[in-house]
Amino acid sequence: MIKDILEIAGIAGEIIREGFGKNFQIEYKTNEKNLVTEIDKKSEKAIMDFISKKYTTHNILTEESGEHKKNSDYLWVIDPIDGTTNFAHGLPIFSVSIGVMKKNEIIAGVVYDVMQNIFYSTEKGSGAFANNKKINVSNNNKIGLGVLATGFPYNVADNPNNAFERFESLTKQARAVRRLGSAAIDFCYVACGVFDGFWEVALHPWDLCAGKLLVEEAGGIVTDFAGNEIDIFTPQILASNKKIHQQMIDGLKI
Ligand code: IPD
Ligand code: CA
Ligand code: CA
Repeated sequence: MIKDILEIAGIAGEIIREGFGKNFQIEYKTNEKNLVTEIDKKSEKAIMDFISKKYTTHNILTEESGEHKKNSDYLWVIDPIDGTTNFAHGLPIFSVSIGVMKKNEIIAGVVYDVMQNIFYSTEKGSGAFANNKKINVSNNNKIGLGVLATGFPYNVADNPNNAFERFESLTKQARAVRRLGSAAIDFCYVACGVFDGFWEVALHPWDLCAGKLLVEEAGGIVTDFAGNEIDIFTPQILASNKKIHQQMIDGLKI
């Protein structure tokens, strides 16, 4: 299955690269911050077409068209472009994120960093890889020496879940905090040790399904802000190299 997921991500990536920097239609979703482009839809359609031809009985959940239920144990969770704002504004940081679950457990995932042409892939129990090379989380055990990442939801103006206070707290404690604009890539950077940790107050299943397994298979941990186990529907996400997890939990308590 992982070969197919990689192939699908590659097909979607090709469509996205082709559209990058060109003229494309943009629509607003919930507000002016929350965009969907013609290319998000094209990418999603290509992914859906592939899955529905080859895995005819599987359930699918996508960002742009929602749930496609077929009564299967398998569920594909898809973000056709993670980082749409970056894509729409010409910033080359965005990805395709595809996770596969079986009976509520994530069993495989691929995040494709389109412009860097890096395929992050994982299967439950088999480790995490970047272009087939094994990756691991960082070894750092001091938040003060760490580089962290975060992101903000589209309703950030309402400061959901004290997003700004948490940002202030961890920005003061860490060496640096980055805000890339693609949650799936943030997870990958934790998985390969570039970032020591990543948190966000309100993610969706398609932002985190593949990334969660990538971080875990690379030796890290993904919980909520209190250290509790999460599922893909948990909005509050804290991913780290494990070693600074408690320090991040403390920093997020505000
Ligand atoms: C968004 C990105 C961003 C995160 C937002 C997500 P989208 O996904 O992952 O980094 O901060 O919370 O909604 O809309 O570009 O697929
Ligand atoms: Ca997303
Ligand atoms: Ca998206």
